[in-house]
Amino acid sequence: MITSKELRKKYIEFFKERGHSEIPSASLVPENDPTVLFTTAGMHPLVPYLLGELHSEGKRLVSVQKCVRTGDIDDVGDSTHNTFFEMLGNWSLGDYFKDDSIRWSWEFLTDEKWLGIDPEKIKVTVFEGDVDAPRDKESVKVWQECFEKLGVSAEVFDKEKKNNEDARIFPLPKEDNWWGPAGLTGPCGPDTEIFIDLGKSVNFESCPNAENCRPGCNCGRYIEIWNNVFMEYYKTAEGKYVLSRQKNVDTGMGMERTLAILNDFDNVYETDVLAPIVAQVKTLSHCHCEGEARSNPVTTCKESDDGILSPTAQNDNVETKSIKIIADHIRTSVFMISDGVFPSNLDRGYILRRLLRRAIRHGNLLKMPNGFLFPLAETVIEIYKEFYPELENNKDKILDEIKKEEEKFEKTIKKGLKEFEEMINLYKQRNLEAGLSNIDDIFISGEDVFYFFSTFGLPLEMTIELVKEKSNPINLEETKKQFNEEFKKHQTLSRTASAGKFKGGLADASEETTRLHTAAHLLLESLRRVLGEHVFQKGSNITAERLRFDYSHADKLTDEEKQKVEEMVSEQIQKKLPVSFEEMNLEEAKKIGAMGVFESKYGEKVKVYTIGKNDDIFSKEICGGPHIKNTSELGKFRIKKEQSSSAGVRRIKAVLE
Ligand code: ALA
Repeated sequence: MITSKELRKKYIEFFKERGHSEIPSASLVPENDPTVLFTTAGMHPLVPYLLGELHSEGKRLVSVQKCVRTGDIDDVGDSTHNTFFEMLGNWSLGDYFKDDSIRWSWEFLTDEKWLGIDPEKIKVTVFEGDVDAPRDKESVKVWQECFEKLGVSAEVFDKEKKNNEDARIFPLPKEDNWWGPAGLTGPCGPDTEIFIDLGKSVNFESCPNAENCRPGCNCGRYIEIWNNVFMEYYKTAEGKYVLSRQKNVDTGMGMERTLAILNDFDNVYETDVLAPIVAQVKTLSHCHCEGEARSNPVTTCKESDDGILSPTAQNDNVETKSIKIIADHIRTSVFMISDGVFPSNLDRGYILRRLLRRAIRHGNLLKMPNGFLFPLAETVIEIYKEFYPELENNKDKILDEIKKEEEKFEKTIKKGLKEFEEMINLYKQRNLEAGLSNIDDIFISGEDVFYFFSTFGLPLEMTIELVKEKSNPINLEETKKQFNEEFKKHQTLSRTASAGKFKGGLADASEETTRLHTAAHLLLESLRRVLGEHVFQKGSNITAERLRFDYSHADKLTDEEKQKVEEMVSEQIQKKLPVSFEEMNLEEAKKIGAMGVFESKYGEKVKVYTIGKNDDIFSKEICGGPHIKNTSELGKFRIKKEQSSSAGVRRIKAVLE
């Protein structure tokens, strides 16, 4: 068996041997890219460098990046989709391009010294070309050479041809083979995706595309394991694709999927990063069943035609959707909390809350004991703590938040159930008063269901189940339809709100965030000078609109202190101080008294940004950048809000006007 540890090591080693520097995983909460809520790929932390900023580690980088993609949430429970995954990635920042990138992927995948995958099992897709950009003939050529060298035929799929049985290279349109930009504008380009063909036997019979089943079909036959993006274009605000000055390579390999393939596992839950969580879920549900239902070792849930999950007894197939969902969601939640996300009703916090609640609901269906997420979270930390030491460092915080959310859910659900019961009784009472023969004939509207959903966090499926249990449901379909309408209305409202936030796209957004980034340095130094040297940065989050800055300090800022800080920042802006950086190793940086923020996130060599020069230096801070060139570009700095963040930590929200 090849383990996650071995795979990470091999990947890093392979690319290091080819001149790449290893960079550590960035946080799941993006610092430099306001266009995404979570880091969804290794490229997000690198956006400034893909746009031309020089990276202190050079032009060839390799990393293992923590990623969260909640867009795939409905697919969780199948064999390959997870809301959290690790992305093995390598980058060329204006250095090598298609040729080396493809050849190295091929070597890593097929060479016995590395992964040794049978080349016959590999199929690839390339960009077929359209009005914006031509067909990627270069990639086709390199791929053909790679395949043929190992004696594998490499025909290009031809739409016009009837028999394409032997095709190995599949040209596909933009929807499939183009990456980015994350915002409306930004770096982008064609990609080539690498698939493992599990063979016809797997799902071919049930594939809805039958003869046309090919890479990209989601019947399960083809598993995408690696994507190599060739960023040679820039999408402008007018929607045009222009060739970019710097040609980059951005690749991403799905760690769990690749592990499953290498080990011949049916699904990612059998890999060493998920199997112990799955095993523990099974054990916990066994525990609960003992005594009460020994003949029914595990109660699992089954999705019925109307999409409602209902408990059913299954004796052997315990690898069910609920178990997978719990394992997936607890893992994602642990990583999110470790990176500073807390359950709430907003943005990231809301997504975390939904994951935790969904896991609890599925736990209830499996008859898991109360508080079951807590021990599962401990297991997640055990599995990952060697590679991600932050999990161990944040263990108390993680477990505490999970415990609180579990308790809250218990309470809210109970409150919700009570109120639900009262509503049913009220409707029945009305039927009685109206002299109806069957008082159970009540109609619960979609709005009612939405109320329980939004007020008590009762998910639709759970509420519908309750409706079924407690009454003689009339027009359940109508209820669901109404609920979905309510839900869409709500979603549209929140989407419009967040779309409005980033209407400028990546380029504008990144200009704004760069300015706020520099303002953050001025703010930290001003706070230290006004309040004292106990002030350190505890976190920051920058969107195109504002800077959120957490710092260590016990008390609320007085009006006078607030004014002093604002004035000090403004003074540096008026002084038109230059902003420059120097590269050095961490020790040197510490020696010259540079402020270090989140040191562990940086590689050996660091950039130290200095604001000011000669005898008028205001601040020196270790930081990856990017920054503006001169403080005169900042405009007017204003503190909008000052509040508590957590014990001993205050939070400032500030803007540049
Ligand atoms: N950014 C590319 C992806 O995530 C590599 O697929």
